[in-house]
Amino acid sequence: AQLNTAAKAAGLLYFGTAVDNPDLSDSKYIANLETADFGQITPANAMKWQPTEPSQGSYTFTQGDQIASLAKSNNDYLRCHNLVWYNQLPSYITSGSWTNATLIAALKEHINGVVTHYKGQCYAWDVVNEALNEDGTYRQNVFYQYIGEAYIPIAFAAAAAADPNAKLYYNDYNIEYAGSKATGAQRIVKLIQAAGGRIDGVGLQSHFIVGQTPSLATQKANMAAFTALGVDVAITELDIRMTLPDTSALQTQQSTDYQTTTTACVQTKGCVGITLWDYTDKYSWVPGTFSGQGDACPWDSNYNKKPAYYGILAGL
Ligand code: XIL
Repeated sequence: AQLNTAAKAAGLLYFGTAVDNPDLSDSKYIANLETADFGQITPANAMKWQPTEPSQGSYTFTQGDQIASLAKSNNDYLRCHNLVWYNQLPSYITSGSWTNATLIAALKEHINGVVTHYKGQCYAWDVVNEALNEDGTYRQNVFYQYIGEAYIPIAFAAAAAADPNAKLYYNDYNIEYAGSKATGAQRIVKLIQAAGGRIDGVGLQSHFIVGQTPSLATQKANMAAFTALGVDVAITELDIRMTLPDTSALQTQQSTDYQTTTTACVQTKGCVGITLWDYTDKYSWVPGTFSGQGDACPWDSNYNKKPAYYGILAGL
């Protein structure tokens, strides 16, 4: 079996991967994407604020459209990512002179512009990304600064109005296990619900470290704490990095760790699918972000399947 086929047989909607636009010129990359390993894609960058609305009120959808049309031609679910984040924002947002009212207007305008463009194409939208500090308090981003926590329900309401059929997600990392940050994410779910808004899911990014992945029981209990609030969960950005150099012992542990997270999702009613944050070490964001670390993906840089691939399969 292959990953997406096995995922569907195990009751998930999809198994997928992030895709970044520069990867698309690599024919081998595309060929793998078209196999039964993948039934879902997420644009790694193309739909973020900076690329979609680089100057206020003027939109560029070329890169996002490239990913959306790939999803369409491969019959893949498209997870759209993301509408509101503190990172990859244009400077007119981060350095603008805003008031509460003008930033709310700009936020709604951006969400309406992007969501309307992709209306009907997104299985899900990551509406708000990484709004929390590690201690569960709100991150001091420009939206929080001028709007307060209300920016979150405002964003979800704007997305819901623009595409009633897209599932609306809050997405973050280090919320894959119980603790202040996961509790903060649950507070966000309740905040939106209390405002009469719609939130359909919580994305557990799952950027893990080999040998330090939360246990099966931990991940399952954490997922259950979210689904108890009436929302789905999804593994949205799975990768499991190691400190280089790579060894066969690390690869074996990595395989076990991939299997653990896969099993947690399969054994959780309401965990809808699993997305890798790119499937090959050739294009992983890890080495560029975490110095000295890498080899986080189930395929190596030459498109050979690693033990991790078979760990996922064993979990499905
Ligand atoms: C990353 C991309 O993979 C990189 O190419 C980019 O330079 C920075 O962003 N959490 C997220 C993703 O929600 O949007 C990030 O993607 C990885 C961390």
